[in-house]
Amino acid sequence: MLGFSTSSAVLCLFAGLASGLTSTLQQVTNFGSNPTNVGMFVYKPTTVKASPAVIVAIHYCTGTAQANAYFSGSPYASLADTNGFIVIYPSSPHSGTCWDVSSKATLTHNGGGDSNAIANMVTFAINTYKADPSRIFVTGSSSGGTPPMMTNVMAATYPNLFKAASVYSGVAAGCFVSSSGGVDAWNSTCANGQSVATQQQWANVVKGMFPGYTGTYPAIQEYHGTADTTLFYPNLAEEVKEWAGVFGYNAAAPVQVLQNTPASGYTKSIYGPNLQGISGQGVGHTVPIMGAEDLKWFGITGGGVTTTPSVPTSTPATTTTSPTTSPTNPPTGGTVAHWDQCGGMYSCLCQRKLAKE
Ligand SMILES: *[C@@H]1O[C@H](CO)[C@@H](O)[C@H](O)[C@H]1NC(C)=O
Repeated sequence: MLGFSTSSAVLCLFAGLASGLTSTLQQVTNFGSNPTNVGMFVYKPTTVKASPAVIVAIHYCTGTAQANAYFSGSPYASLADTNGFIVIYPSSPHSGTCWDVSSKATLTHNGGGDSNAIANMVTFAINTYKADPSRIFVTGSSSGGTPPMMTNVMAATYPNLFKAASVYSGVAAGCFVSSSGGVDAWNSTCANGQSVATQQQWANVVKGMFPGYTGTYPAIQEYHGTADTTLFYPNLAEEVKEWAGVFGYNAAAPVQVLQNTPASGYTKSIYGPNLQGISGQGVGHTVPIMGAEDLKWFGITGGGVTTTPSVPTSTPATTTTSPTTSPTNPPTGGTVAHWDQCGGMYSCLCQRKLAKE
């Protein structure tokens, strides 16, 4: 069942050619210690800025060639061309190619799991490409059944490396644990949104992944669709509680709530300068990647997280309706190809997914 139809192969090729990038995806095999055999792929535009920023773009869970699929199916390479940063696409080594977010090793700073390998890629990029260590970011999105919870895990296990993170349809770091120590294990309690804890309990989970760490944690944006039936919507509240606990915010009292932000049908809740939760009304597990928003959040364009209005926490939440903008990647309807949508430019991804199932 691994054969692709001729038409899907043609569409895949077309998608690659249509990208019009200045450079190509390269595999790096000697990036350092790699206990779990994670693949490293890098997109370095022909022209990068001096001391470039790095985005680690962590693929969703799917069939083969996952780093490649995320490279051609997400906007980061093209954004790297126009903004002069570098993208690292780690590639999961596990069968089914989901990330290990469940074992003690991966949930521990320098624990020898997948997270450790990805951290080593970042160090390699800083040394080899003279990347700016203060502008390393991590993002990941989910599709096709299983999650990119790795992004939250990276933020929790390597807060020293990352300045900011953008998470699409994830779960709280440490939610998807395996009580029996399983690697890359499924946890339906968490997936179904039934792993509920207090802010303080979640913060302790994060702190426990890197005991003794006293530095800052990356600023976090969490996107989630209300109609997610893979990682159910209540997971957004748990993610928000987790990071609110870490930052000392109040997850129950956002300082600002913006309707139709950053796109129509989305509601952005701001809990403090370092934490935003973004809820997509009626959006399923596949929240479209808002690459331009990510770059703003990272400060690659615009002023970054430091320009997020910092309203005193005593101020009651206000609801503001901001003008509906037309994002380049409209989140609902229209002709945009979504991850889960078969046909269009991502047809190849769907073919792989379907072939696997
Ligand atoms: C699933 O994760 C929760 C924490 O979110 C944990 O308490 C539970 O033991 C895990 N289940 C299994 C089967 O490992």
